[in-house]
Amino acid sequence: MCYQIALNFEDGVTRFIGCNSGEKLLDAAYRAKINLPMDCSDGVCGTCKCRAESGSYDLGDDYIEDALTADEAGSGMVLTCQMRPTSDCVLTIPTTSLACKTGHQKFSATVAAVTPHHDAAIVLELDVDATAAPAFLPGQYVNIDVPGSGQSRSYSFSSAPGDKRLGFLIKKIPGGVMSNWLADAKPGDRLDITGPLGSFYLREVKRPLLFLAGGTGLAPFLSMLEVLARAGSEQVIHMIYGVTRDLDLVLVEEIAAYAARLLNFSFITVVADEVSNHPHKGWVTQHMPAEVLHGGDVDVYLCGPPPMVDAVRRHFDVTGVLPANFHYEKFTPNAPAREAA
Ligand code: FES
Repeated sequence: MCYQIALNFEDGVTRFIGCNSGEKLLDAAYRAKINLPMDCSDGVCGTCKCRAESGSYDLGDDYIEDALTADEAGSGMVLTCQMRPTSDCVLTIPTTSLACKTGHQKFSATVAAVTPHHDAAIVLELDVDATAAPAFLPGQYVNIDVPGSGQSRSYSFSSAPGDKRLGFLIKKIPGGVMSNWLADAKPGDRLDITGPLGSFYLREVKRPLLFLAGGTGLAPFLSMLEVLARAGSEQVIHMIYGVTRDLDLVLVEEIAAYAARLLNFSFITVVADEVSNHPHKGWVTQHMPAEVLHGGDVDVYLCGPPPMVDAVRRHFDVTGVLPANFHYEKFTPNAPAREAA
């Protein structure tokens, strides 16, 4: 049995390694040529301490309290020189990938389809060259080099991890380097990609979820919903998908299809445009009743532009209901970088 372990580094890089049943994580990382922080390798110094975000594991019983206290162990901290995974795991490593002598992964892919949605967005589908699909966590993104421009752009996967065909939802921007390239792109064109990247990804689902998508910030939620549907999740999930204009509402049928596959999934769409006849007008915060915050027993995920993140934060302050967890990714269309928390 080999478990898939995601190592998330401070600089946003994620590397996936295999860890054999009964193998210590530090040894598995070393085998993969990733030098995780360590000193004693004996459960004494605590240098290798990091957080296990999800998964099950055996902590071992050969470490001392100075290296890992009972409270720390209870809150999900582990010693990589001692822990033996018993399932796939996600770990946060408190240093950069460079410090661990690793870094970004690169791969190439071929354009399979380019589907415009009005003047709002483009669905880009890519086939990867490798026999194995690139590993990533649902919600993460990649940087795609725009051929001939010397520039790259960041896009979240809309497809699920493990799928050989990768999907992306790209905002159509007049004069944008990627929009311009996609206007003439055709099946068979080649793209170079770096990733996966980012700390915005679906954590272990322990309570109701509230998904807030702004515009093409819908993409990572499609990936998350697919993962949840395949897992047969029965958790309560509500999504609010907000856009500026009616035409910006894309892939609504795909979202609706999840209502048939996920027992407790509901969603609404919201349009900000004052002249729209849409039944839900305004901002997502105006359509966020107390029920969807479950008195704070909710994990909120948001992917959208910076003002949306700020507005949702203010909403929490005004209502006095703070979610158990608030994960967000700010993106600015046509900009190369993303900010996540
Ligand atoms: Fe010293 Fe793990 S390396 S406790």
